[in-house]
Amino acid sequence: MAFNIAIDGPAGAGKSTIAKAFAQRLSYIYVDTGAMYRAMALYLLREGISAEDEGGIEEACERVDISLVHEDGVQKVLLNGEDVSSLIRSEEVGNMASKSAQNGKVREKLVELQRQLAARTDVVMDGRDIGTCVLPKADVKIYLTASVHTRAVRRYKEYLDKGMEADLARIEEDIEKRDHQDMNREISPLKRAADAVLLDSSDLTIEEVLDTMMEICKNKK
Ligand code: C5P
Repeated sequence: MAFNIAIDGPAGAGKSTIAKAFAQRLSYIYVDTGAMYRAMALYLLREGISAEDEGGIEEACERVDISLVHEDGVQKVLLNGEDVSSLIRSEEVGNMASKSAQNGKVREKLVELQRQLAARTDVVMDGRDIGTCVLPKADVKIYLTASVHTRAVRRYKEYLDKGMEADLARIEEDIEKRDHQDMNREISPLKRAADAVLLDSSDLTIEEVLDTMMEICKNKK
């Protein structure tokens, strides 16, 4: 049986950094479900389909092909065969992802894909609804969070490191808006599963978070 670790939490809590590093430590596959929602959002933006256009989205779900591939430990997101791993990282795509992720058809399609991946391999999967909906029987569930300010500062630094322009106040506002959207949507809202361990990373280094998670897993194995 595959061993499944679910990591959920709000935008910018460090989930992907942590999940990726943790998967590496355990030699598990890292599954970034946010990247799948982002790839879907990029497709909708390119096709000019709005997040409110239910019919358009339903049709788009039928023709779009999203997959995750792993090459030399690096995850790539393919949209109809094209590597869109970098293109999906903009704020525009993130905001569209948060809106289109509210659509039932989008969720149905991507959740199915995520379950297939977890059924056959040991995974560390991160997202918003992994412990509550995608993998309710995951062996380990962690709800990783941090204060809005800490998360905004982290995103801000990421942009600067990439040589991109950034506005801290705007990022903070976007994060609050995204949290609100993710936590209040009708289908699969972001919330901590009853059996998930709450981990606040505001005052922890990456190493400290990873060590804590290792302890949590040891107790489960
Ligand atoms: O984690 P990331 O910021 O890449 O996710 C982008 C958006 O995709 C989130 O704001 C959220 O609305 C959506 N998402 C989701 N369910 C997941 C992962 C991401 O609804 N499992």
